[in-house]
Amino acid sequence: MHTRNYDILVWGATGFTGQLVAEYLLRHEGAGQRLRWALGGRNLQKLQAVRQQLTAIDPAAAQLPLVIADAADEPALLKAISDFAVVCTTVGPYALYGTPMVAACAATGTHYCDLTGEVQWLRQMIDAHHGAALQSGAKIVPTCGFDSIPSDLGAHQAIAAFADTHQRMPTAVTTYVRDLKGSFSGGTVASQVSISEQSADPALAAHWRNPYSLVQGDTSGLPQVGDIFAATFDAEQNCWTSTFLMAPCNAKIVRRSMALNANPAIRSIAYQEKMAFRRGFKGWALANSYNVGLALMQGSMGVGWMRRAMQPMLPQPGDGPDEQARIAGRFVFEVVAGDASDRVQVTVRGDKDPGYGSTSGMLAEAALCLALDGDRLPQVSGFLTPACAMGNVLVERLVRAGVTFADSGAKVAPKA
Ligand SMILES: NC(=O)c1ccc[n+]([C@@H]2O[C@H](COP(=O)([O-])OP(=O)(O)OC[C@H]3O[C@@H](n4cnc5c(N)ncnc54)[C@H](OP(=O)(O)O)[C@@H]3O)[C@@H](O)[C@H]2O)c1
Repeated sequence: MHTRNYDILVWGATGFTGQLVAEYLLRHEGAGQRLRWALGGRNLQKLQAVRQQLTAIDPAAAQLPLVIADAADEPALLKAISDFAVVCTTVGPYALYGTPMVAACAATGTHYCDLTGEVQWLRQMIDAHHGAALQSGAKIVPTCGFDSIPSDLGAHQAIAAFADTHQRMPTAVTTYVRDLKGSFSGGTVASQVSISEQSADPALAAHWRNPYSLVQGDTSGLPQVGDIFAATFDAEQNCWTSTFLMAPCNAKIVRRSMALNANPAIRSIAYQEKMAFRRGFKGWALANSYNVGLALMQGSMGVGWMRRAMQPMLPQPGDGPDEQARIAGRFVFEVVAGDASDRVQVTVRGDKDPGYGSTSGMLAEAALCLALDGDRLPQVSGFLTPACAMGNVLVERLVRAGVTFADSGAKVAPKA
C-alpha cells in the first residue's frame, strides 16, 4: 500500500454517531498535530457547521479539512479516499449507502472500519470484495461498534485466558449479556428497517438465519450450534436466558473470527450469545417477556404497513440519546470459555451507553489502531473481524474508551 498524506477520514461526520466519533478523535488526538484526519460527508454546509461546533472543544478544529462526496458517486469516492490510510464510516444504513465505499477501499488498499450490523449486506460484501481486498492489502473491518467488538474481542480474550490457564483450547464459548442500559438513534432504526426489508428476499433472509452465513466455504464440519430463540434455563450458569437482540450479528462475527483462525482447535469452538436473567420465577418471567417483546418488535418491523406506521414515532436520522443518557448508560458481558471439565470467564464492561457513548469510542479506537498500530497488527488483509484484524492491540486501546476486558484471574470452578 502506498503512503497516504492523511491518517483517517471520518466519513458521515454530519450524522449523530459520526459527530461523536469526530469529538472523540479531537479530544484524544487533537486536530492535526499528532493525527492527520478530516471530516467527510455529502453536504458542505452541514460539514462546516459540524467543524464550527467542534471548535468549542478545541479551536484548532477550524483547521480540519473537509471532504465532500455522495455515497453513490464511486469516482468521487475514489478521489476522496485517495489521500487517506483509513476510512472510518458511519454512513448507514450500509445496505443503502455503504457498497460503493467498501468497493473503493477494497480496490485501492485503503483500510476501512464501520458500524454495520446488517448481516445480509455483509455476506454480499464478503462475496463481492474479499478477493479484491486480499489483493490490494486493504483491511476491511466491519462491525467495530457495540455490534460486535464486545462479543468478538470478549471471545478472543476468553479463549486466550482458557489456553493460558489450561494449556489447551476450550470447546465452547458463551457470552451472557448481564446488564444493558442504552437507547437507539434514528440511524439505527433506519438500519433495523433496512434489515427487515432485506429479509423479504428469501435468499437474504437465509443469511440472517444461518449461524455460519459469514463463513465462506464448506461449513458442514463446524459445530452445529445456532442462536437461541426461546427462553431456556442455563444449568451451567444457574439462570434463565433468552435470545439477545444483537446475537444474530455478533455470533456470526465471532464464528467468522474463529473460522479465519489458522488453528483447527479454534475453528471448531462452538459459540453462542444469550441475554442472562436471574433464576427462579422472576427470571423465567423476565426472559419470556424479553423474548415476546423482541418477537413483537421484529414481527411488526417485518410487515410493510406496520413498519411505515411505526416509523414516524421512532427517532429520525440525525437524532439520538443526549449526553446525559449516554453517560448514564452501561453494559456488562460475561464471556465463558470452557470444556467438559474447566471454565474461565472474561468480563467485558462499557461505562457509557453501548450504542453511542461506547460505540463512538470503539469505532474511533479501531480507526486509530488501523492507522497507527500497523507494525503490531497481524499481517492479514481482506474482509476481517475486529478480533482477527486487531486482537490484543485494540483491547489495550479500548481502555481509553471505557471498554475493559477483565479475566477472572482465578479459574471458575467447574460445575459439580
Ligand atoms: N453497531 C452499533 O453499535 C451502532 C451504533 C450506532 C450506529 N450504528 C449504525 O451507524 C449508522 C449511522 O447511525 P447514525 O445514528 O449516526 O445515523 P445518522 O445520524 O442518520 O447519520 C447518517 C450519516 O450518513 C450520511 N449520509 C446519508 N446518505 C448519504 C449519502 N448519499 N452520501 C453521503 N453521506 C450520506 C448522513 O449525511 P447527512 O447528514 O448529509 O444526511 C449522515 O452523516 C447506522 O447504520 C446505524 O445503524 C451502529
